[in-house]
Amino acid sequence: MASLPETSPVTVPLLVSSKGADKIAMMTAYDAPTAALLDEAGLDVLLVGDSLAMTVYGEANTLSATMETMLRHAEAVSRSCRRALVVGDMPFLSYQTDAREAVMNAGRFLSEAGCAAVKVEGGRRILPAVEAILAADIPVMGHVGLTPQSVHKLGGFKVQGRDSGAAHEIREDAKALAEAGCFAIVLECVPAGLAAEITAEVPVPTIGLGARPHCDGQVLVFHDVVGLTRDLRPRFVRRYADLAGAIRDAASAYAKDVREGKFPSDFSSQLSAKAPPVLVDRSG
Ligand code: KIV
Repeated sequence: MASLPETSPVTVPLLVSSKGADKIAMMTAYDAPTAALLDEAGLDVLLVGDSLAMTVYGEANTLSATMETMLRHAEAVSRSCRRALVVGDMPFLSYQTDAREAVMNAGRFLSEAGCAAVKVEGGRRILPAVEAILAADIPVMGHVGLTPQSVHKLGGFKVQGRDSGAAHEIREDAKALAEAGCFAIVLECVPAGLAAEITAEVPVPTIGLGARPHCDGQVLVFHDVVGLTRDLRPRFVRRYADLAGAIRDAASAYAKDVREGKFPSDFSSQLSAKAPPVLVDRSG
């Protein structure tokens, strides 16, 4: 049991050994400036989630995220982080078809996008892919409970594991992922008791999303936290800022200034005729 470093990079082994010592703070990030801010703010793990299909691209679910889109965003996030562990979320159909393809796609998150690990959704049924990825020395974060890539099979974004049979399946999935060598497991939308049991049973950190307080860490979607989500805001989300309001106010103040001729300001009186200052040089 050891605490996470304050300034040096959070690595996979350090994250595993922090179980029981520190609560892990994880959030999604999809672009460079936001990732730099979240890293500076001290987030331990940044997940380049396939939720970007919804938050950034306005889709109804995550299924349309592609490898190319995920890699482009993951690259921007990795480039901007000094301390946080960056995890790339493997999109729908990038690991479910065959193990070799899963390894090749997982490897791209490390070699092309600079991530330290990947995340996959599902339990025992995706173990061959998980084992193959791990055998290539690519760290894997598991994800059980509500797995958004299964939204159509599940019939919506609903709490999972409410009855004892379903809870048993999720517990066995989490245990199998930990035994295979996953370094952490996301528990999404499962009852508090089940999350507590799994957290006690597996030797690696559990990261809860709508799974109440007993997990080793918590993850939330950036847009939910800062108030940029327009609809479908899950009940378990805590909103820490109203960026939607701030952006709307800034944009309408700008539009008003343009319409009233107040922007741009007239700098002509300040410019010297001899050596006009270059305010922004875009000449390349
Ligand atoms: O894609 C995502 O953002 C996730 C979560 C765990 C939030 O998978």
